[in-house]
Amino acid sequence: MSGPLRVAVIIGSTRPGRLGPAVAGWFADQAGPREDVVIDLIDLADAEAPIGPRLASADAFVVVTPEYNHSFPAPLKQVIDAFSVEWQAKPAAFVCYGGISGGLRAVEQLRQVFAELHVVTIRDTVSVHGVWSHVGPDGRLIDDAARAGAAQAMLNRLIWWARALRTARQTTPYAA
Ligand SMILES: Cc1cc2nc3c(=O)[nH]c(=O)nc-3n(C[C@H](O)[C@H](O)[C@H](O)COP(=O)(O)O)c2cc1C
Repeated sequence: MSGPLRVAVIIGSTRPGRLGPAVAGWFADQAGPREDVVIDLIDLADAEAPIGPRLASADAFVVVTPEYNHSFPAPLKQVIDAFSVEWQAKPAAFVCYGGISGGLRAVEQLRQVFAELHVVTIRDTVSVHGVWSHVGPDGRLIDDAARAGAAQAMLNRLIWWARALRTARQTTPYAA
């Protein structure tokens, strides 16, 4: 199969009043105009959403994660652990946010977890520190040229891996 890569963007936080949808919405807006990707926005707070088939049909993942107590949210771990082959031999990139660390400690822990699931994690990240000060009165993330550039750079890396691994999975079934 060729054509655009299917990228599942996962909103990793579920608490009432969360900023996850603002961050994920901004990222989806960055990816939207690209012709090489099709975005599927998965909200873990939406209990009705059938997550498994959407992960299975994805060629790549973008995990949008905050930092909670130097790690990532429990609902995100729950969904990671609930699936296995759906993740395998695919790349994952991270958009992270939080207080002073910008969520980067959560990402480092996610890299360890995803390695166990045969996921290739992308070096480049998009990090938003002091996330509260980046949200406008309309509840959306305020545009920022440097952050937009980082998103495109990360997507370029993710797409390289997604294309390479899609071809590889088609050529040689991945045996764990
Ligand atoms: C339980 C909890 C723990 C947090 N721990 C950290 C932390 O360790 N480091 C940090 O930089 N920010 C921390 N924060 C700030 C969050 O990253 C920030 O509030 C972010 O908006 C949370 O994501 P959410 O709004 O999507 O739930 C914490 C927030 C919560 C609610």
